[in-house]
Amino acid sequence: MSAAIHTNIAQACELLKAGKLVAIPTETVYGLAANALDADAVIRIFETKNRPSFDPLIVHVYSKNEVEKYVQEISPSARLLMDAFWPGPLTILLQRNDLIPDVVTSGLPTVGVRMPDHRLTLELLEQLKLPLAAPSANPFGYISPTRASHVADQLGEKIELIIDGGECRVGVESTIIDCTVTPPKILRLGGVSVESITSVIGEVEVQTNSSSSPQAPGMMLSHYAPRKKLILGNIQELLEQYTQNISILSFQEQYFGYRNYRLSEKGDLHEAARNLFTAMRILDSQPGDFILAETVPDTGIGLAINDRLRRASHP
Ligand code: TXA
Ligand code: MG
Repeated sequence: MSAAIHTNIAQACELLKAGKLVAIPTETVYGLAANALDADAVIRIFETKNRPSFDPLIVHVYSKNEVEKYVQEISPSARLLMDAFWPGPLTILLQRNDLIPDVVTSGLPTVGVRMPDHRLTLELLEQLKLPLAAPSANPFGYISPTRASHVADQLGEKIELIIDGGECRVGVESTIIDCTVTPPKILRLGGVSVESITSVIGEVEVQTNSSSSPQAPGMMLSHYAPRKKLILGNIQELLEQYTQNISILSFQEQYFGYRNYRLSEKGDLHEAARNLFTAMRILDSQPGDFILAETVPDTGIGLAINDRLRRASHP
């Protein structure tokens, strides 16, 4: 079996209602979706990704109003964040209620909810009238997919349908914020910047580098890793040390005479984020043993890019 790749939402609905998995496009990365209210279907996500069962899933919803069905209450800060950033790349943790099966949240009392900003997936959620549990559609620990072909390459033999929504506009995963604590705590840097969040709700805590904390089990240090060794530093200096079997992942600069992928010729962080995972995949599939890489400016979505680069470089 090899997954069909098309945009037929009605067929996606049928499969999802039957407890099957469908890969869906979002503005951040592609997700591997199942009916979030069907525990058996959700278990198939963990099996298909080889994902450890202690790593909870995000629940994707069609509207802000729908969230009320699945959580105990929507805190004032959560409400402000939804109004400001939904649909969009922000996942909000709230106290869940009994409608959400334990497998979705790995038994945690909180559930992560998000309204994605992609026309096809919103259309799907609207027709389906069910929430979708969906992690990124990659084998556990590998780079997240930002194109339908990335999903097909790695999971194409395991699922029946990939909805083709083109290239993901944001390119890194959603920001995750826990709104069950005061002040709210950012657990993963992502598509919505820390600055824009504080401009809406004021002070937040940022705690994103936990290695195996149960609070954000998926935030392990060696996440998003290519198979090759990615070495992060000053590229000019690294080039003195590493002379063979290398490729270069640079922000703006071009390195002539090398296998080089630059993230943004004009130094645009949003463009760099959009290209990041594709670049890692391309360099990972080419010859060579090492990817030499540099961080980008530590501002806005640059923080999320640097976070992914650091995790990818972790041994
Ligand atoms: O942009 C995204 O968020 C993408 C698209 C598909 O929506 N999804 C995504 O899912 O990145 P995933 O499963 O690859 O990463 C979600 C992470 C988990 O690894 C977990 O650490 C965290 O979200 N998470 C989910 N629910 C949580 C909860 N109740 N408490 C703490 N962390 C949670
Ligand atoms: Mg993931």
